[in-house]
Amino acid sequence: MKVLIIHGPNLNLLGKRDSSIYGEKTLEEINNLIKSRASQLDMEVEIFQSNHEGQIVDKIQDIVSKDYKGLIINPAAFTHYSIAIRDAIEILDVPVIEVHLSNIYKRENFRKESVIVPVCTGQISGLGYNGYLVAIDALKIIE
Ligand code: DQA
Repeated sequence: MKVLIIHGPNLNLLGKRDSSIYGEKTLEEINNLIKSRASQLDMEVEIFQSNHEGQIVDKIQDIVSKDYKGLIINPAAFTHYSIAIRDAIEILDVPVIEVHLSNIYKRENFRKESVIVPVCTGQISGLGYNGYLVAIDALKIIE
């Protein structure tokens, strides 16, 4: 089972962003944990990070042709306003899990709305990097 993980803008700077909100691990450290969790479950992962909305849309559009069986996406700031990412996800017929390191419902009002979650299977918010590992487990269970 092959799944795609997408990290949105500024997540390449984890480790330098406010660690009281986003934790201390770098994106590379988180990606290594994701890969080892996936291999324990006999899953294959491709991991992609971009600061550009259009590149994220292009990657989501690849899901059908590349036969990914699920998507885990942290759209970061795009969560709150990207209709283009929402529309790209809406076309998919694989499970999609939106992940946030922080609990977006405990933060500023502008972070409390996700325009993307209504077209996702589910959302994990506030578990730090463990949210990605729980999302991997969830894709395996609902496979
Ligand atoms: C985030 C929450 C977003 O509001 C923010 O813009 C991010 C990260 C999270 O993982 O908690 O960049 O998606």
